[in-house]
Amino acid sequence: MAVRARVAAMRRRLRMADLPAYGWNALLCQGVWASRGFASMNRLTERHCRNSWDWDSCSPLCLSACLRHAWPRPRWPLERSVSDSAQVAPPLHGGTGSANIRSMSDPFALDDEAPASPPPSRASGPRPVPPDAPWLQGLNPEQFQAVTTTDGPVLVLSGAGTGKTKVLTSRLAHILASNLAQPWQCLAVTFTNRAAREMKERVGQLVGPVSDGIWLGTFHSLCLRILRSHAEAVGLGGDFTVLDSDDQMRVLKQVMAEAHVDPKGTPPQGLMATIQRWKDRAVTPDKAAADGGAEGQAKTLYRAYQDRLRSLNACDFGDLLLHVLTVFLSDAEALARWQGRFRYLLVDEYQDTNVAQYLWLRLLAQTHRNICCVGDDDQSIYSWRGAEVGNILRFEKDFPGAKVVRLESNYRSTPHILAAASTLIANNEGRLGKTLRPGIIHEPEAIEKIRTKAVWDGEAEARMVAEEIETLQRRGEKLSSMAILVRAGFQTREFEERLITTGIPYRVIGGPRFYERLEIRDAMAYLRLVVSAADGLAFERVVNTPKRGLGEAAVQTIHMVARAEQVPLLEAARRLVDTDELKPKARQALARFIEDVDRWRSLLESMPHPELAATILDESGYVDMWKADKSADAPGRVENLKELVAALEEYDSLASFLEHVALVMENDSRADLDSVVIMTLHGAKGLEFDSVFLPGWEEEVFPHSRALAESGTKGLEEERRLAYVGLTRARKRVLVSFAANRRIYNQWKSQLPSRFVEELPESHVERSGERGLHGGGLAESKAAWNDPAWSRARFGQPRRETAAAPSWGQAKPRESAGGFKPGARVFHDKFGNGTVLSLDGNKLEIAFDKAGIKKVLDSFVSAV
Ligand SMILES: Nc1ncnc2c1ncn2[C@@H]1O[C@H](COP(=O)(O)OP(=O)(O)O)[C@@H](O)[C@H]1O
Ligand SMILES: [Mg+2]
Repeated sequence: MAVRARVAAMRRRLRMADLPAYGWNALLCQGVWASRGFASMNRLTERHCRNSWDWDSCSPLCLSACLRHAWPRPRWPLERSVSDSAQVAPPLHGGTGSANIRSMSDPFALDDEAPASPPPSRASGPRPVPPDAPWLQGLNPEQFQAVTTTDGPVLVLSGAGTGKTKVLTSRLAHILASNLAQPWQCLAVTFTNRAAREMKERVGQLVGPVSDGIWLGTFHSLCLRILRSHAEAVGLGGDFTVLDSDDQMRVLKQVMAEAHVDPKGTPPQGLMATIQRWKDRAVTPDKAAADGGAEGQAKTLYRAYQDRLRSLNACDFGDLLLHVLTVFLSDAEALARWQGRFRYLLVDEYQDTNVAQYLWLRLLAQTHRNICCVGDDDQSIYSWRGAEVGNILRFEKDFPGAKVVRLESNYRSTPHILAAASTLIANNEGRLGKTLRPGIIHEPEAIEKIRTKAVWDGEAEARMVAEEIETLQRRGEKLSSMAILVRAGFQTREFEERLITTGIPYRVIGGPRFYERLEIRDAMAYLRLVVSAADGLAFERVVNTPKRGLGEAAVQTIHMVARAEQVPLLEAARRLVDTDELKPKARQALARFIEDVDRWRSLLESMPHPELAATILDESGYVDMWKADKSADAPGRVENLKELVAALEEYDSLASFLEHVALVMENDSRADLDSVVIMTLHGAKGLEFDSVFLPGWEEEVFPHSRALAESGTKGLEEERRLAYVGLTRARKRVLVSFAANRRIYNQWKSQLPSRFVEELPESHVERSGERGLHGGGLAESKAAWNDPAWSRARFGQPRRETAAAPSWGQAKPRESAGGFKPGARVFHDKFGNGTVLSLDGNKLEIAFDKAGIKKVLDSFVSAV
């Protein structure tokens, strides 16, 4: 790749220059932005560069722009950057000698690092930290042990609120401050981007901005970062796209259609779940079981889906891990480099890792073996995503000599909450079992029992919760310390409506969001196509949006060429433009579209990206399309597009913005406002709030009917763990509610209280509600739980026979250009028989017997 070659040349030049390495990325990027007149970008680039401790993660855009600008004179003096960094994190530098500085920020560390040789940073050796260091303050003896045992594997296994995440944060600070590793040699995995942000902030507070260099993120984001350096090894271009679930489904449906698989007999959602499960277990298409479902076709379809993704230069979320594992397992050198790089691995919420994630961790930990995992088997709530709680049990086997630490003091919740949660979870079998005792003394008068409340229906429930929130607010509690945790997405609507009516600010975290709206997805597809010419899905989405006269037939023709010639759709379209395959009008429209895309791409490096995005949306006619639309929601869509362009300001390039959207689908726009949080129980893992509302504790809602139907007792136990997670999010108070009637997907149903309500211990619970709401009350509902309906599990998928037929792509064998010579007789589907006049690469000029002289692509004709 051109950019790669230029980066390599640049590296050589940098080495020759033998300049102190610190801040080169920063200087270069700074220079670029400065030369574009972007003084305000300083902060952004500074942040970007602090994160980019190696060239591989410095964006190609910056690098190539730096080259074009011929290393403009840096406006950020080297001395200042050095002393600044020494100032912000004194314990890490231990002096301002250039050798120390160089080793600390050597941007080539990864490339040069031989796995066996310790990095130069260790030359100065570990530095003792004072016992009163802030990150060691207040730790209990077990936590202290987990934080300071820095040699070898450590497993922290304990209940909710016992300070597991705190141990990880303190441990990171301790490692950095003790000079045991540099930030970029520490890899910390959290479960959500939000958790990663929080952890970075906490470590930052302890050791300063140097924490920015830590490789801290979700499995997906870290794998994406690694995969960018190895994309070619798995058949992708470096600028590959990460597809969201909607696009994944479109690809799968296409693949199924081509294989003539009836979506009614084999629902694509089911097949996608099978593929994801395979990926969660690190099973590649070669290793997938032949009888994996879809009438024995799942394996073939999985392979076809993977091939299609590759041809689109794209991957899905599961691939991020799978591809990195493939690289690690096939390229010993690459593996050794990454193993050598990461001296310390830290993993939060370890109970929810799946097989692929576990393998990834195990491989990475082989060289230094400094892996610290924290988890709680009672909080394993992602088995439906392939999480294997057994990974906890494997740890000691795979890492012999591991130090296992158990934390028993809970610092989060009141004794009532703790007792209730512990009693509830004790109903599960097959637990490791642990003790939880209050780690802090609560004011007796401030200790409330857990409350349960029966209400008439969902509306009454929302009203009651909103009133409670107002009461708490009047008592001086902050809205952001209150959370409504629901089992399923549909539950949020009623609360949202009520909170809007009462004027209580709220945030829905994890629900349908801005980036999922139609107009935003279209606009993003334009941006994706400009950033990555090989992004076939983006091409498909926008080639005829707004309408350009490129209908289904034209798009099919483009597809055919792409498949026959093994090129991306945009390239196929480019080839078609010079031929007579498409009707003249369509051809002209396509030519104009390609010209536009090329022009926008040529502006990538010279035009500020928000301006470029606005230009694209204007010139493409996309904004005009909505402006001309008379529907009620069109004005809102135009506003959303404007908001999208505004959002781009916060990112340093289109590429990084697209990456962000692919990874972070959290709408945090109101994060600064004091607002109530509404989210699912799954999303609430790891978080804590003073007051927690747990609505909808009704049979079928929670425990969710699907969980029970699909997984029986195992499903029920996972639901109970979810209830445990919900209860233990609360510091001070919990209000559990359940309605007698509920409208679920537009149907009114009488509800029974959840069995979990009954399982809460009387001595810690205060029950209230309108009498008689539930007929026979809890006793009756308990009888109902044993109803055979509950054991009626597993609905079978109706299957339909599908005839094995060749896909449309395979039906037409293609000949290569070399197969035709001038004078040869050929046949073309549309134009009939003819004689080849001349050749130009893969384009043929043919005198057709009936259609006259036409230019066509060789893949469209066959010899006669
Ligand atoms: N030793 C301690 N002393 C005081 N508070 C603590 C201590 N350890 C943890 N905490 C607090 O307890 C709460 C729960 O800690 P957290 O690390 O989130 O627990 P976990 O990850 O095990 O659920 C946090 O508010 C944290 O600051
Ligand atoms: Mg935690």
